[in-house]
This record gives sequence, structure tokens and C-alpha cells, in this order.
Amino acid sequence: MKISIINGPNLNMLGVREPEIYGTLSLADIEAQCLDQAKKLGIEMSFSQSNHEGEIVELIHAAHEASHDAIVINAAAFTHTSVAILDALKAVNLPIYEVHLSNVHARESFRHQSYISAIATGVICGLGVEGYLAAMRAIVLK
Ligand code: DQA
Repeated sequence: MKISIINGPNLNMLGVREPEIYGTLSLADIEAQCLDQAKKLGIEMSFSQSNHEGEIVELIHAAHEASHDAIVINAAAFTHTSVAILDALKAVNLPIYEVHLSNVHARESFRHQSYISAIATGVICGLGVEGYLAAMRAIVLK
């Protein structure tokens, strides 16, 4: 089994960026925990990040081309704006797990809207890095 974990804009700034909201782990720390989890679960994982909407669309297509079994995506701000990312996720027809580090529903109202949730198998928010790890476990257990 292979899982593609895709991260959106500004998540490369984790650790520095608003630590009171996103915590102090860097994206590299999160990747290391996901890699450890993948080893424990006996699966393969790819982990990527982009600040560019079109590149995220291409990462989603690539998950399909490389025969991944599921996508875990934290599309960050594009969650709330991007029809292109929604269409890409629909196009590849893979199980989608939407993850957010923070509880978006306890924040500004523009973060309550997600283009991805309606087509996601599962949505996890507010659990920090544990959300990524829980999504990985859920994919394997399904
Ligand atoms: C985020 C929440 C989004 O609203 C925000 O734009 C992000 C990160 C999260 O992980 O909590 O960049 O997806």
C-alpha cells in the first residue's frame, strides 16, 4: 500500500508560523513522524509540500499516476478557495483524507468552508500532527 501526503501553502513555515495556533513542530518533524508511522504500518509513503495551486494539482495527478492507494491532504488556505484542487481530487478517484492541524471551525468563519470535505472519506482537524497519523491508520484499517 502507498499513501501520498500532500501539504499546501505556508506549511513549509511550520515551527516559525503562528506557533500558538500550529504548534512548534516543523514540517520536517511532521514528515519524520509520518515516516515512522508508515514503517510501523508496513506501507510506503510520499510526502510533499507546495505553495503553488497548480503544483498541488500536479501532485494529486502524480499520486494517481504512481498508483497510490489514498491521499492525505492538508491543502491549507487552498482548502477554502480552490475548485481546481477539488476537481483534481475528484479526477483521480482515490480515497481522500482531509487534515488540518488547527480546529478550523473554532477560527475565522472563512475557514469553516472547505471545498474538499464533501468528497473526503474522512476529515480530521484540531489534533496537530496526530491528525496525519490517525488518517494513515484509518487508511490501513479500512
Ligand atoms: C490549516 C488551516 C487553514 O485554514 C490555514 O490556511 C492553513 C493551515 C491547518 O492545518 O490548520 O494554512 O490547514
